[in-house]
Amino acid sequence: MAQDDWQQLAGNHERQVLQLSPNVGASDRYAREQLGPEELAWMSSLQHSRAFNEQVWLCHGTPDSDVQVLLQSAERNATTDEVEQRLKGHRSELLLCGHSHVARSVRSASGGLIVNPGSVGQPAYEDDFPYPHVVASGSPDARYAIVERTPQGWIAQLLSVPYALQQMVELARQANRPEWVQALSSGYIKPRT
Ligand SMILES: [Fe+2]
Repeated sequence: MAQDDWQQLAGNHERQVLQLSPNVGASDRYAREQLGPEELAWMSSLQHSRAFNEQVWLCHGTPDSDVQVLLQSAERNATTDEVEQRLKGHRSELLLCGHSHVARSVRSASGGLIVNPGSVGQPAYEDDFPYPHVVASGSPDARYAIVERTPQGWIAQLLSVPYALQQMVELARQANRPEWVQALSSGYIKPRT
């Protein structure tokens, strides 16, 4: 697949960086300062949810939200009922999602496979929704998934590999963000007290 054919999605932070409302967080403000017109135009062109083909759907959070987490409920795994409720009737053989940064593969009630490959960078974070909690993947590694359609249906391999994270850790240090230094280098984050 040529690079121009890569399927790319926006996440909630792309939207937040573009909107840049007054209550936007420090990280979104920092990101916006680093970006030029070309990057912002590219970000504006992305959708958070779209079909890849007839069998596969791609979304950042859920098919209709870029901030709702599909497979997690705060710090625990979402139940089957919670997942079904968030799918709102959406049916795909394979649904690829993100947002939680937690790698997980789940069968929906209709038999479809839902895969969150995890994230590259930000392996742990603190979130205030629906109540203050911490999500920690437990290692600084980069995570991705390989999915394959077999005669028995879709299968997923969830992988985690080390990557050159020192530059990211150093950037966080220079930006005076000790919580990101810790998260990026360990995969854990200390809750605010
Ligand atoms: Fe997100």
